[in-house]
This record gives sequence, C-alpha cells and structure tokens, in this order.
Amino acid sequence: MTAASGKVVMVSGGARGIGRAIVQELLAHGWRVSVGARDMAAAQAVFEGHGPDRARAYAFDAEQPQTETDWVAATVRDFGGIDALVHNAGIISRHSVIEADDEEVDRILDVNVKSPLRLTRKAWPHLLAAEEAKVVVIASLAAKRVRAPGASLYSLSKAAVLSLAHGIRHCGEDSNVRCTALCPGFVATDMASGVPRDQWAQLTQPADVARIARTVLELPATASVAEIPISWRVEPQF
Ligand SMILES: NC(=O)c1ccc[n+]([C@@H]2O[C@H](COP(=O)([O-])OP(=O)(O)OC[C@H]3O[C@@H](n4cnc5c(N)ncnc54)[C@H](OP(=O)(O)O)[C@@H]3O)[C@@H](O)[C@H]2O)c1
Repeated sequence: MTAASGKVVMVSGGARGIGRAIVQELLAHGWRVSVGARDMAAAQAVFEGHGPDRARAYAFDAEQPQTETDWVAATVRDFGGIDALVHNAGIISRHSVIEADDEEVDRILDVNVKSPLRLTRKAWPHLLAAEEAKVVVIASLAAKRVRAPGASLYSLSKAAVLSLAHGIRHCGEDSNVRCTALCPGFVATDMASGVPRDQWAQLTQPADVARIARTVLELPATASVAEIPISWRVEPQF
C-alpha cells in the first residue's frame, strides 16, 4: 500500500519534459494519472504498460478552454473523482516586456496563468469532494526574481501564476485543499535549450522535480507547503 493508494491526479503537459517525469513518478507510486496533452500518441507512450484503470490521456490545449472542461469531465467519468491537479504545461518567451507585442503577452498569460486558473475552477467542486486534495503549480524561480531583460515577460507570467498558487491556497483554507508552488531554476528539458547542451548534466533534472512534486502531493493537509524554490546552483537567496 503506497501513500497515494489509487488517488487520482490530473497532470497538464504530461507528454514530455517535467510533466512526463511527474507522470512516471506518480504512476510508480500508486497514483492513477489523467494526462492532459496536445499530442495523444506521445502522452500514451509515457504510460505504456499501464492499464486504463491506472493512466489515460486526454486532449488538453491551454489555448482552448473547452478542452479543459472536457478533460475534467472525462477524468471524473473515467476515474470517479479528482484528488490532485498538477499545473505543469507552460511556454517560455525570450522577449522582454518592452519588446513583446500584445499578442505574445496575451498568449503567455493565457497558457501560463489563465489556463491553470480556469482548470482549477473547473476541478474545484471535485477537489472539495475529495477527502484531502492538492494543487501543485510548476511556477519557476523566474517568479521570484527577474534575471535579465529577455527573461522579463516569462517572469511576469510566472510571478502571476505564483500569486495564483497563493490564491488557491487561501481559497482552500477552510477545506482540505492545499496548494504548493514549485519554483525551479533551469531544469534539463527542451525549455532549457538556451543553456549549452554540455552543461545539461549540471541542471536540475526533471526526475528530481518530480520527486519533490510527489512528496508535496502525498503530505497531509496538516503539513501545508506554500512554495519550494529549487535551484541547480547557489544564488544569494535560492
Ligand atoms: N525547464 C526549465 O528550465 C523550467 C524551469 C522552471 C519552470 N519550468 C516550468 O515547468 C513546466 C514544464 O516545462 P518543461 O521544462 O517540461 O518544458 P517543455 O519540455 O518545453 O514542456 C512544456 C510542456 O508544456 C506543454 N504545453 C505548452 N503549451 C501548451 C498548450 N498550449 N497546451 C497544452 N500544453 C502545452 C507542452 O506540450 P506539447 O508537447 O504539446 O508542446 C509540454 O508538455 C512549465 O510550466 C515551465 O514554465 C521549467
């Protein structure tokens, strides 16, 4: 019997990168996983060998709100409820807040902030119905400091999603819903393509973020963790 013992978790963007590692970590520890992804074949490959009672993939595109509604409904239909949500899907921009046009600002806010907000609202009644429920937001160290002009638009979106995580935490106060923001620096995924490949072994690994996510997901409501900064190196405060 694991700590999860069949609890149901929705993971957005579970077909690659950190999301893929989280899906695999949770499956290995007894969770039942509802994977939201744009690429169904890639998502299904992540949980190959596990039956439909353990893992399923559903169409999810953060820029198409109806897919969020359908994904929540299908998860409840197929798994019987929702115990946890992991908001992992996200995009990066290398444009500064001065350079980016309105369209890019709207897009990054839609994917990185508004979609997790909408998904949380849509899943909320089901989270409240669970004995204890969790929301994990994959924010970033970029939420906590702006490294450079080219990181500033991404930071803007991640600071907003960090505030969303704190907002969710407060909204869950009187129930058994808890929310944690994970704030990694560079993690060795496609998103870190700006880091030279020969340095990737030194970056935080997706499997390590996944282990931290699982730990938080398996804590009781009486051990609420608001934020976890995670860094591949040593910065003054992180
Ligand atoms: N890697 C880092 O250095 C780092 C550091 C701190 C925080 N993070 C955060 O960690 C999370 C995961 O990133 P990653 O490192 O795993 O990057 P990644 O390998 O680029 O993966 C991004 C994930 O987000 C999904 N996604 C992007 N746009 C989407 C959309 N419109 N609808 C649905 N899914 C969408 C992608 O799905 P597709 O396969 O369909 O594109 C993919 O699964 C992100 O929120 C990112 O901001 C990453």
